[in-house]
Amino acid sequence: MIATESEFAPFEFKILIDAKDSFVGADIELENAIADTLGVDVDFSLMSFNNVLASVTSGKADIAIARVSVTDERKKAYDFSDAYYEAENVVIIKKSDEATYTTLESLAGKAVGAQKGSIQENIAKDQLPDSSLVSLTSNGEMINELKNNQLQAVVLGKAIAEGYVLQNDDLMIADMTLESNDIDAYAVALPKEQAKI
Ligand code: ARG
Repeated sequence: MIATESEFAPFEFKILIDAKDSFVGADIELENAIADTLGVDVDFSLMSFNNVLASVTSGKADIAIARVSVTDERKKAYDFSDAYYEAENVVIIKKSDEATYTTLESLAGKAVGAQKGSIQENIAKDQLPDSSLVSLTSNGEMINELKNNQLQAVVLGKAIAEGYVLQNDDLMIADMTLESNDIDAYAVALPKEQAKI
């Protein structure tokens, strides 16, 4: 059983194919390839991202493939495969705020969203210490709140952010650089002490 989320394009998301709900994306391809190599059937357990790692701890899932970032903190609780992707994190704002939010400091006192349980929460805490962090379960909801002015900015992985910006004319990636302390590398998370895949 593989723990993942279903609202994280282009990596794992649902689309209609021939009027049928299908679960697709780069991580799904990876999951299928691993299952093929091992000669096992793959089964997904879809959940919100903040439950993905916990389900590996509890044994509800065997592994997690959900663009999970490798961090020192997580390494204490999980084993990780070799990293299969390196990412940057960015800040999304409304285009109409382009002239207002030009630096990380300009977001002081503003509401900044990050997905619950993600490293983007920590990035926001560390690098936007004067902003007020709003943790939300769903990235889609977070983007809606940004569009409705409930949030002034959102911290997201670059590829995901680019997808939202492409689909939403009123949004843009802000011209400000988040310094990631570590390289943000994604890997498969496994329970500790299991053989590596
Ligand atoms: N890379 C970030 C992390 O591990 C966020 C991953 C979110 N993944 C998802 N499928 N929603 O914390």
